[in-house]
Amino acid sequence: MKIAVLSDIHGNLEALHTVMEEIRHQRVDTVISLGDNIGYGPDSQSVMDLLAEYKIASVLGNHEMAVKNRANLEWFNPMAQKALEITLSQLSGPAVAKICQLPFFLVKHGLRFVHGVPPANVFLYLFQLPEKKLIQKLDRLRERICFVGHTHNLEIISWDSDHLTRDKLGPGISQLNINKKYIINAGSVGQPRDGSPEAKFLVYDTQTRQLSVMAVDYPFAETGKKIIAAGIPKMYAEKLAVGADTVESG
Ligand SMILES: [Fe+2]
Repeated sequence: MKIAVLSDIHGNLEALHTVMEEIRHQRVDTVISLGDNIGYGPDSQSVMDLLAEYKIASVLGNHEMAVKNRANLEWFNPMAQKALEITLSQLSGPAVAKICQLPFFLVKHGLRFVHGVPPANVFLYLFQLPEKKLIQKLDRLRERICFVGHTHNLEIISWDSDHLTRDKLGPGISQLNINKKYIINAGSVGQPRDGSPEAKFLVYDTQTRQLSVMAVDYPFAETGKKIIAAGIPKMYAEKLAVGADTVESG
């Protein structure tokens, strides 16, 4: 079973189109989104439509939480709030209803999928967990692998009941060990902060246990122009060109 894992698409239709084209070449069996499908980008509604068209299952991200309950807007910084207000005005009634029904986590094919940290936290960032807490979470994790997003950075954390390792993930293939547990951060399709502008996503093969990090070029300047035209803060357009690594309200 080959599974494509997308995260933090953030209303970036150009990035999602390019990623879906690459996924067609990869011949994956299923695609799962780790949430934050909306916000920051200019095309949140179109991204929702495309995810529905491809029947892509998704969990809630913190941006979807602001749609579910506007009180959650307070969690975001003022620029992100401004971007989210515009996103909220763009979404159709059916899209809002669909967002409100998204789950906090998914378990499919023996793998867990959650936006922030396992088992089901949408707002917490991986880097906020001290090592002791991280080990506790890995010990309690029922599945051997949990995929997360939220930081917009790629990372692989492994635990063999003795040693914890944390490594950055770059494009290429990693062989996972059946005797270890993993938390794997998928990076971001539509608002990367790992220092390069390409749209990132993962492909995991459950039979070979090979994890591929994919990075694809897409026309980010086009997305940037649409961000500015929509009145969304310009910084979200500028970040696309550099894959800014500053972490703000994810
Ligand atoms: Fe995000």
